[in-house]
Amino acid sequence: MEERKKYVAHCLVLPYPAQGHINPMLEFSKRLIQRGVKVTLVTVVSNWKVVSRKNFTSIEVESISDGYDEGGLAAAESLEVYLETFRRVGAQTLAELLQKLAGSSHPPDCVIYDGFMPWALDVAKNFGLLAAAFFTQSCTTNTIYLHTYNKLLELPLTQTGYLLPGLPKLEAEDLPSFLNRYGTYPGYFYVVVNQVSNIDKADWVLANTFYELEQEVVDWLFKIWPLKTIGPTLPSMYLDKRLQDDKNYGIEMYVPKSEACIKWLDDKPKGSVVYVSFGSFAGPNVEQAEELASGLRDSGSYFIWVIRDSEQEQLPKGFLDTAEKGIIVNWCPQLQVLTHEALGCFITHCGWNSTLEALSLGVPVIAMPLWTDQITNAKLIKDVWKIGVKAVADEKDIVRKETITHCIKEILETEKGNEIKKNSIKWKNLAKSSVDEGGSSDKNTAEFVDELVHRRA
Ligand code: UDX
Repeated sequence: MEERKKYVAHCLVLPYPAQGHINPMLEFSKRLIQRGVKVTLVTVVSNWKVVSRKNFTSIEVESISDGYDEGGLAAAESLEVYLETFRRVGAQTLAELLQKLAGSSHPPDCVIYDGFMPWALDVAKNFGLLAAAFFTQSCTTNTIYLHTYNKLLELPLTQTGYLLPGLPKLEAEDLPSFLNRYGTYPGYFYVVVNQVSNIDKADWVLANTFYELEQEVVDWLFKIWPLKTIGPTLPSMYLDKRLQDDKNYGIEMYVPKSEACIKWLDDKPKGSVVYVSFGSFAGPNVEQAEELASGLRDSGSYFIWVIRDSEQEQLPKGFLDTAEKGIIVNWCPQLQVLTHEALGCFITHCGWNSTLEALSLGVPVIAMPLWTDQITNAKLIKDVWKIGVKAVADEKDIVRKETITHCIKEILETEKGNEIKKNSIKWKNLAKSSVDEGGSSDKNTAEFVDELVHRRA
């Protein structure tokens, strides 16, 4: 009873087990905790083992099984098999967890589940709980997937120019890779498109974006979904600085081993360093890595390039001896790097988190998308928000070294680069305002908690 009085409601937060999904859902959890909500993070067993538990002072952690308690996705014979097993075993073990928690001193009121796991909505509803879908990608991307699910986008794509509600005109090559390269990664295609399969049953749809960023498409989605934009989910310390408990939650394998790159940045001239990262999952192939390496070296700029341990062999032999102005790290504290005075621009794969982070911190972008929604994010970066340029690939789908050098010089040395920097600052201010007191995302989060308290049994 005492436990119940301490909190206004209890949410289970259930991210898909990948860095780009766990981080935004944990950051949103902090905002809920600040408003008196009890949060329990539910992770898969293989991740649970590496959760940096010492950081979790105000979030409880429970686990379900994806069917691969030793190794997760890496242990599965294919992505398709993993996803199907996760759906089956995940639904069963989530039901067992909800059964267990139903008898606890403060049973959950609501399941906030990752859009990649729509089966969690059905489980929550079987237990009579409220449920909120959490979309870790842009509303633009979700609208494209919604139209695909409803068969309003015919695949394979044949048209020139697609006009979807609330979106700028998009060419086939601006659409997510699962559509414009139809047939690639069928498992992921199924996952992203089926995010909306049972969305009608969700009590809320939470999206990691902010109203001002995607206004037209949010207005359109708002007519058909109980949508609340609650982002950008960067730690408060980088935006409104209002959260007391703003520790860097995370999973151990991704916590930076050293902050050496911050020291390295400290004595570099203002706005001079190029930061290169392709996120936590995909990376450039050997040919692309060679071109990138040469492009960085030829630009004569300082650079930090994140290459995960598993991909270090992609790097041309002896590269660092010839590129004296750069360092390679296997992981870095990206937000600290992006806010460092020495930073000049960010060569990114345009994952949605990296996109939001660059935009919210006012960092000009060189877009080098690889697959999935990154392609569409790159289009928005260049043509809609105008916070960067795109490094265009050739017919072999490789961005050549000359293009990379040209893009770096364009951002760091030209009038166009200055315009882009001005736009970046404009978006930085809007992002901060949206989560600050009375901003669009702040209001939506407050409304979500009020409605939750009102509607819980
Ligand atoms: C994936 C997809 O690629 C992305 O398109 C989708 O929208 C979400 O899931 P990922 O590829 O990992 O995510 O990219 P991104 O969304 O950018 O997330 C990477 C995260 O890792 C960012 O929050 C970034 O700050 C962090 N990071 C990356 C570090 O902290 N250190 C690093 O060295 C590199």
